[in-house]
Amino acid sequence: MKNEIIKLLKKEGKLTDETLDEIMDINIHDFANIVQEIGQGDTEYIKASEISKELNTKYIGKNLYVYNEVSSTNTLAKFLAMNDVENGSVVISEKQTGARGRSGKAWESPIGGVWLSVILHPHVDYSKLPLITLATGVAVAKALERIGVKDAEIKWPNDIMIHDKKVCGILTEAVTQFNTIENIIIGVGIDVNMDITNFPDELQAGTTTIADELGEKADENTLIRVFLEEFEKIGEVFLEDGIEDILKEWRKRSYTIGKIVEVRAPFNKYYDAYVVGIGKEGALIVEKIDGTLEKVISGECIIKN
Ligand code: BTN
Repeated sequence: MKNEIIKLLKKEGKLTDETLDEIMDINIHDFANIVQEIGQGDTEYIKASEISKELNTKYIGKNLYVYNEVSSTNTLAKFLAMNDVENGSVVISEKQTGARGRSGKAWESPIGGVWLSVILHPHVDYSKLPLITLATGVAVAKALERIGVKDAEIKWPNDIMIHDKKVCGILTEAVTQFNTIENIIIGVGIDVNMDITNFPDELQAGTTTIADELGEKADENTLIRVFLEEFEKIGEVFLEDGIEDILKEWRKRSYTIGKIVEVRAPFNKYYDAYVVGIGKEGALIVEKIDGTLEKVISGECIIKN
């Protein structure tokens, strides 16, 4: 982290010997406290005060850290998670300059979107991570329904689609120590009110925004609030072993089941298959051309029909 600060200051041309000495003396927990302090209050578009006023949750979003601009809310959330912020704390930024998507891709995050990361201190093992991602997808879909979006579907594992275009991506990351999960960071990016003609050409055709779908701008703060409420609700179902109920909700909104896809599993294992369903662990169940069934635990699916 100190190296990051030094890099940043170097970039801004502010690295005098004096500042360097001061940085070397910073206690990392003090620094985390400063970062938390900076995140108190409202920014121009993200109003923590408004979100909190009506937020109906027990622990998700009780601490909101809101920034004008960060590199990635997931990265900042990881840093805060390692410095003892409470379970259910949420990092939100109006804009991200180095946001990360799945498979090492960059994620466009200009002003006008909802870019947030939820910090959880779960008592679960690795095998449950795919289910947490699926559950988050259901929470986003339900939140979109609450603000009037019809036809939100979930493309395995975690893209939210409206009318065949992607509107939201989810990146779940685990912070581990000695092989146990200390924290889970669930990053959610929703394209809400921005103009996607400013996105790179290759992304434009496959992307939509909530505003384009509703025909009017959506309130980012309301969307954040209802997402946090839905996320907590589904989290409780998850903790009470209600996996089957979550999968039922997922299946109801599935964009993938019943389609022919190209499976892109790790280690360049690519093949065409028919999607039969989703299994208890969150794996996609597909039937290959030779009739055999396979569970796809991680990777991507490219829809072919
Ligand atoms: C995907 O590739 O579909 C996942 C995209 C996840 C983007 C979100 S935006 C908030 C959080 N911060 C990041 O750097 N990534 C996630």
